[in-house]
Amino acid sequence: MENRGSAKRVAKLLRPYLYHIVLALICMVAVSGLSLILPWLVKEIIDKVLINKDLRMLNLICLLAIGIYFLKGVFSFGQEYLMAYVAQRVIFDLRSKLWRHLSRLSLSFFVRERGGEIISRLTNDISMIEQTLTYGVVDLVVRSVTVIGIIAFIFYINWELSLISLSLLPLTALLIDKYSKKMRKLGRSVQDSLASLTTIVSEVIGAIKVVKAFAASDKEVQRFEEANLRSLRVSLKGAKLRAFLSPLVEIVAALSTIFLLWYGGRKVIAGKLTPGELVAFLGYVAFIVTPLKGLSGIFSRLQQALAALDRIFEVMDLPLEVPEREDAMVMPRIEGEVVFDNVSFSYDEEPVLKGINLRVKPGEVIGVVGPSGAGKSTLVDLIPRFYDPTEGSVLIDGVDIRRVRLDSLRRQIGIVSQETVLFAATIRENIAYGRPDATMDEIVEAAKIANAHDFIVKLPNGYDTIVGERGVNLSGGERQRIAIARAILANPRILIFDEATSALDSESERIVQEALERVMRGRTTFFVAHRLSTLRNVDRIVVLNDGRIVEEGTHDELLERKGLYWKLYILQGGNGGI
Ligand SMILES: Nc1ncnc2c1ncn2[C@@H]1O[C@H](COP(=O)(O)OP(=O)(O)OP(=O)(O)O)[C@@H](O)[C@H]1O
Ligand SMILES: [Mg+2]
Repeated sequence: MENRGSAKRVAKLLRPYLYHIVLALICMVAVSGLSLILPWLVKEIIDKVLINKDLRMLNLICLLAIGIYFLKGVFSFGQEYLMAYVAQRVIFDLRSKLWRHLSRLSLSFFVRERGGEIISRLTNDISMIEQTLTYGVVDLVVRSVTVIGIIAFIFYINWELSLISLSLLPLTALLIDKYSKKMRKLGRSVQDSLASLTTIVSEVIGAIKVVKAFAASDKEVQRFEEANLRSLRVSLKGAKLRAFLSPLVEIVAALSTIFLLWYGGRKVIAGKLTPGELVAFLGYVAFIVTPLKGLSGIFSRLQQALAALDRIFEVMDLPLEVPEREDAMVMPRIEGEVVFDNVSFSYDEEPVLKGINLRVKPGEVIGVVGPSGAGKSTLVDLIPRFYDPTEGSVLIDGVDIRRVRLDSLRRQIGIVSQETVLFAATIRENIAYGRPDATMDEIVEAAKIANAHDFIVKLPNGYDTIVGERGVNLSGGERQRIAIARAILANPRILIFDEATSALDSESERIVQEALERVMRGRTTFFVAHRLSTLRNVDRIVVLNDGRIVEEGTHDELLERKGLYWKLYILQGGNGGI
């Protein structure tokens, strides 16, 4: 089953910390062994001290007990700390592995999956595993060793009584097994319902403006309430099951103790058992209740952690849609020739690009226009290899981009898209995102080219001003200019502007446009635009319609042809929509 696969992967995660684990195990065995001695000491006190009235023995036993508690404390520290150490390291590894995998997954994963779902796997599921590793394993080992030790001791004292009390164990085991299976299923639903809560929260926060604008707060509150209620129900169901299991096991254990007291008492009266032995025996049997009861809880927690692990492995098993080849080479400095060689592409069944052939010379500025949904964004997304063509290939300087290392390719491509995302950091850090080693002079230089310097220095803390999570305290045009500065600083050989100016009013557009023209100089540039007026100065315009290139030429040439470009131009008022 999938469990076996998971177990193997868990083993692989644990292997680097084998040394710590072994040490922790030794501590755990020592702790349980030491606590097992205590009922035995009680037997010695009753039989040897109280009945024989031996004072020297009393002192000795008490000293021994003190020593045992002390040692137990030391080992107990060892087991807790070592296991916590292992758990933290494993979680650390798991988290970075998961994150590394997530950040290498193709864009389409993030388009498909919801942010909250991903966040939930990184937080809820991982902390579930952390808890189980830290406390669950210690509990499991200590309790199992204790149970085994107790069984050994009681058999040593009296096999007949032991057999009677143990005959009640399978019943308990059966109960535990049945409930732990149910708990695993419930565990998965609890995590799932938590994930859907997180999803709603992150969706609403991400789209807070839309929610407020459409006065949909109430609707969102209701949606949250429903999910919250679902989560409550599943959690309560789990709690009920757990709460039911504890007393059940306890009652079974208590009944056996009472029966043993009755049966063993008769044996003492008959002289077949010493009083100390009976007391110790009962002590051990009572002692077995706690670890047994705990074990049932641990099994359910273990099942929950396994469910969480399954969810994490599920993500880690998602194939990378743009895999890097084993022998991928580092892309040399790009000159800037970009060729689409008979490229077709589809996200699912429906083809979005169909047989695109396009040759772009180094330093050429290409305008890309076409109706909404024509495939413009998709076309330019193929250049940094966000997706691989379904057919044909994209070549840069004659090299098929599937043959080069992704980072070496993307580092040389600058992208400014319509929705600019700024990180919750200073403006300086945002500009230097692609090149953290940039000097302040370089950053200012880039900001100047992007027409951003002037407004940045007017901000309260200048370049050290922190922008909100999505740069909410800057205007669209200002954010756009920061994004342009970011692209400039990276000094890419190929630039992609996907409607970088379409959200701006004409004044900011003019400023940004000016910045763009300065940046484009000497670089191969793809300029996706809705407003045709922004394309007056490009070298060549490519008109896309329904995934095909239908026209190509300069602004004037295309107007003369009176084709699709001309129609779009007329639609925008004959002057490009100003
Ligand atoms: N991640 C995706 N998964 C599935 N289909 C997609 C995805 N992204 C885009 N599409 C589809 O591919 C087609 C082309 O989309 P694309 O974004 O390239 O168009 P566009 O020309 O950039 O349009 P616009 O001018 O509106 O930005 C559309 O029909 C769109 O629905
Ligand atoms: Mg688009």
